[in-house]
Amino acid sequence: MLADGYKDRKLKDKVFSTAKKAKEAAEKYGKENVINATIGSLYDENGKFVVLKTVADIYKELPPEEIANYASSFTGDDDYKKSVLISLFGDEYKNFLKGYYTSVIATPGGTGAISNTVKNYMNRGDKVLLPQWLWSPYTLMVKEKEGTPEYYDLFDKSGNITVSSLGNKIMKLSEVQDNLVIIINDPCQNPTGCRFEKEQWLELKEIINSASKKANIILILDIAYIDFDTRTEKEKKDILEIFKNFTSKVLTVFTFSMSKSLTSYGLRVGAQIALSNSEEVIKEFSYANSFSCRSTWSNVSRGGMKLFSSIMLNKELQLKLKKEREYYRDILIKRAELFLKEAKESSLEVLPYKSGFFLTIPTYEYTSKVEYNLEKNNIFTVVLPEGIRIALCSVPSDKIMGLAKRIKNIIYESKNS
Ligand SMILES: Cc1ncc(COP(=O)(O)O)c(C=O)c1O
Repeated sequence: MLADGYKDRKLKDKVFSTAKKAKEAAEKYGKENVINATIGSLYDENGKFVVLKTVADIYKELPPEEIANYASSFTGDDDYKKSVLISLFGDEYKNFLKGYYTSVIATPGGTGAISNTVKNYMNRGDKVLLPQWLWSPYTLMVKEKEGTPEYYDLFDKSGNITVSSLGNKIMKLSEVQDNLVIIINDPCQNPTGCRFEKEQWLELKEIINSASKKANIILILDIAYIDFDTRTEKEKKDILEIFKNFTSKVLTVFTFSMSKSLTSYGLRVGAQIALSNSEEVIKEFSYANSFSCRSTWSNVSRGGMKLFSSIMLNKELQLKLKKEREYYRDILIKRAELFLKEAKESSLEVLPYKSGFFLTIPTYEYTSKVEYNLEKNNIFTVVLPEGIRIALCSVPSDKIMGLAKRIKNIIYESKNS
């Protein structure tokens, strides 16, 4: 009965099924004997889901009509849009963006922001560039509109981060497609925690500008985890400056998510932030993407948007939120340092991690054996095609301790059995 092209669809979400197995194991063997490294949300050192106090307090104080009513526009409330710009470009965003054009569209989470962009810019049948190690819904978004994912390597043969694979693919595809959509998840890449540094961004800028002589380039920068990056504000600003140096044939769409920034996953609030030096490009972005909002989800949670603007437009609350988030970011750093130190001591290979919720251990062709043996030992991870993802965000430090060595032994056993 399904429409053409929709018939063979079945979502295989291993994350939820593995999480279920971890829960069952905890009931059977006791919580203290099970490591559940599958959950992608932030948990504290007592294993409790993190609700930021600033966020919870403000949400509770919102007038009921601010929660129950529709948003004032399909594309989001004005204060929310302003708050999103502040959150990415800082309080001085107007100065920062002088001479450039932007448009903010509220979406249901970062997911809505990415899929809305793919939908509006990918021509049917096109290839879209996605990272080799990735958050898997990107693939679904491309397939949903009958596109084909083309994966670029994030690391060179020596295991260092590189833009050369991405660059080569950009140059090749720009020769044969009118539009080229590229998704980059940076910083705090899910699942590896890797990040492009300034030199890589500068290299990429040259490549993209050169490719834009042949095709329109739509660069989706998934910044879902940006607030957990470990760089200074100045370093982050320096990177953002680079996005002002693209040609008018390049459109950057930053995709923002309140899920991680406010640990408000269930409120489903995010945004597309389009940036270009062409007024025309931004105008058509606004028109077409608003159309998609109206036809897909109509409008975004008013309460969620109000929550964000109440915090971001109040200096004191903004600072309070930042401090609270920094507390948890420091916990993440501590967990990562502990894991990486022990990984080094036991010669466990880990993909280059810089910051964020996750890190990845490559397990190559032994992946399913490793998965089986890990689970036998009550260690539950998200299994990727050639590796396993450890969610540092949800495993307390006392459970991180010794984990790298255990995993190393299990991989050794899996390779040699
Ligand atoms: C890399 C990445 N991008 C985007 C998202 C979108 O999250 P949400 O739709 O909840 O904002 C997630 C969520 O897990 C993610 O891991």
